[in-house]
Amino acid sequence: MPPKKNAKKTPSLKTKQKALLKTSRPVVSKKVVSTTKIKDEDKESHKNTPYATLRGMKDVFGKEGRMFQRVYRVSESVARAYGFSYVETPIVEQTSLFVRSIGKGTDVVDKEMYTFDDKDGSKVCLRPEGTAPIARMYINQGMHTMPQPVKMWSWGSMFRHDRPQAGRYRMFHQFSCETLGEHSPVVDAELISVAYNTLRDLGIEASVRINSIGTPEDRENYLVELVGYLKSKRSYLSEESKKRLQKNPLRILDSKDEQDRAVIEDAPQIVDWLSEPSKKFFMSVLEYLDEVEIPYVLTPTLVRGLDYYTDTVFEFVEEGVPETQQGSLGGGGRYNGLVAQLGGQSTPAAGFSLGVERILLALKRKEEEARKNGTFVDTAEKQQVFFAQLGEQARKRALLLIERLRRAGIVVSHNLAKSSIKAQLELAHKVGATYTLILGQKEVQDGTIITRNMESGIQEIVDQKKIETVVKKLLGI
Ligand code: HAM
Repeated sequence: MPPKKNAKKTPSLKTKQKALLKTSRPVVSKKVVSTTKIKDEDKESHKNTPYATLRGMKDVFGKEGRMFQRVYRVSESVARAYGFSYVETPIVEQTSLFVRSIGKGTDVVDKEMYTFDDKDGSKVCLRPEGTAPIARMYINQGMHTMPQPVKMWSWGSMFRHDRPQAGRYRMFHQFSCETLGEHSPVVDAELISVAYNTLRDLGIEASVRINSIGTPEDRENYLVELVGYLKSKRSYLSEESKKRLQKNPLRILDSKDEQDRAVIEDAPQIVDWLSEPSKKFFMSVLEYLDEVEIPYVLTPTLVRGLDYYTDTVFEFVEEGVPETQQGSLGGGGRYNGLVAQLGGQSTPAAGFSLGVERILLALKRKEEEARKNGTFVDTAEKQQVFFAQLGEQARKRALLLIERLRRAGIVVSHNLAKSSIKAQLELAHKVGATYTLILGQKEVQDGTIITRNMESGIQEIVDQKKIETVVKKLLGI
């Protein structure tokens, strides 16, 4: 990979070791390129109509629909290039799958699950995330017998009953990659690289925050120390963190509350409790990242909100956007215990998910900035050729010609229901067509078709048999 133009220099091994031991606060880039406020789109879908969409859920259409599809296409092409194969799991699963894996005491399980009783009385829920279902599928489909590692990518909707705000919805989409069956730091680095390069291909400069939370044993030892420390500072903690002290003290480290931040700054750090193998593994992940020139920020307070993680954890944030304005674009980590926890054999694994709606917000933010700076280039796919027909016979032939053009890779817009040529030419102007193909009664009989340059109005009669070559020549493709 060629070096990034303004890639941050990553620290040397020694500096990294030092930072691992000393850093108490994430080093966040000072470069702030945008303070654009993104409006709460959720409000827009609450117009006073009889069937408003549910809170935190929205329709996707028009320009956003095109952006959504572009994110899908880029994700697909990167995932495929790195050898991931596409999988899908059901949207509805047993509630216990998530309670078991994500863990009681997490916000997702305690507050945000869309759980309901199925007709047979069993507890089911809309999936809040996709990793536990992938681990379940690995077990159910006997994937341990396949050549390891098994690399899978997926795309789909997730549901979390959270308080909606900009970038936080109750139904959202994730692009995910998971690698199961291999315990090697290069797997972690590859996954980070796939996510990072997907964002980069979309034009988003992201920074990677990374930490290691070690094995469950490392964490148990660390928690004794952490809880001792936090209890000694209990009176300074926010109400939410006081509650977390009982249920999930590790998550206090993630708190954005200013009161909590002051306490967290001096808290013991998990990296000091890592066992030798975990420390070595983490150092090795960082070395691989150095090698592929992916800039990262060692973030000792990063613990992530799901219980299944072991060792490496990471998140992607948009470069230059103030922390108060952003949620993460995505996140992931290693989850070596999850498959065994769900009843399979012990299987090392790691993965990530990018939040599609967060990516769309970042793209919109970039577009707004570019418009302000006058550097915006409209890359929206323009329909460059319009097909107009006149008369019943021409309409019949039109479908055949449109299909021939499609097979040649040329997409033509058209409205076969319209019969007036004037109305069709107006439509051609509206969609920004550079050429219109006109097929009338006479042309059907002659085996010809008219090409019209929409700017100059110049028309030419061409042989229908050569239509693909002619149109390609006109469009310069
Ligand atoms: P997560 O951090 O919970 O991880 O979610 C990943 C990403 O999904 C977030 O960084 C964010 O971009 C997006 N996201 C989460 N909640 C919402 C929401 N309410 N509205 C809009 N976007 C949201 C996971 O889900 C893990 N399964 C990731 C993973 C894959 N770990 C290993 N493999």
